[in-house]
Amino acid sequence: MIRLVGIVFMTLALVSGTASVHAAPPEQLRAEAEETARLLAKLLQAGRLVIDQNQALIDDVHKGDKGFTPEVFERQMYEVFRQRTGIDLSAPAARTSLAVPPLARPLLPALIEAGKDVVREAQVVINQRGIGYKNFIPATFGSQAAARFSKRSRVQLKQTAIQPRNPKNEPDEYESSVLRWLSGRPNGEAYVSELTESGGTLRVMMPIYYQHECLVCHGGPKGEWDISGYPKEGAQEGELAGAISVKIPLRTE
Ligand code: HEC
Repeated sequence: MIRLVGIVFMTLALVSGTASVHAAPPEQLRAEAEETARLLAKLLQAGRLVIDQNQALIDDVHKGDKGFTPEVFERQMYEVFRQRTGIDLSAPAARTSLAVPPLARPLLPALIEAGKDVVREAQVVINQRGIGYKNFIPATFGSQAAARFSKRSRVQLKQTAIQPRNPKNEPDEYESSVLRWLSGRPNGEAYVSELTESGGTLRVMMPIYYQHECLVCHGGPKGEWDISGYPKEGAQEGELAGAISVKIPLRTE
């Protein structure tokens, strides 16, 4: 994983030295916040993947009760996260593990709760018999879980894209500049991490790239309606789809 820093470091550079209250936070705090952002983004990705892995079940026309309860979702989310990070959040040891920085310890369970709430609220929809596509897909799950988490937390988590389908995913100025920058670069495992607001906020963006299976909705022909009721973007495999954006305040006031 490459860490790309310093594309818009001007904000920090401009004010450094002007006032001591705006002094950059200690490097350790930044490193901890960055790792926390990375883990949150990975956990949201894990939740999206669990929905993806259960899509055929969720969209089963003939089956009523799918058994895809918040608890089943939670177990699978733990498992995907463990496979991808080596951290088992279901084990009590995760609460003291060095792999999970103190800042992340209450936040990761809060995101799991937000995800479970989304799955809980969708039970009626998920268990509907006679309907195939239910619009309960990784993207809708991700938007809702991120929004719920952000409402309850000082840390802001969001899925965004240059031209989002969901207006709630509209990028702010910072996000759109990073998205534009990323879209001109080859698909890689890189993420962008930066201090903004005079070093008072850490912003991390994890890019998401289109894979083959995304193209049924986001691919071509451009403008044709997809199954979810949106015009297709005409995207190609490997192109930048958007990003998971995390915003962590580093000051306590
Ligand atoms: C069944 C159709 C469908 C498939 C397949 C699909 N998406 Fe989407 N995607 C959507 C919809 C619908 C939204 C808007 C979700 C919402 O309401 O927040 C969306 C939103 C997104 C967003 C958030 C930004 C926005 O537009 O609001 C990203 C990023 C994204 N999709 C990437 C992907 C990727 C990557 C894949 C494949 C791994 C994928 N999508 C597969 C339908 C789809």
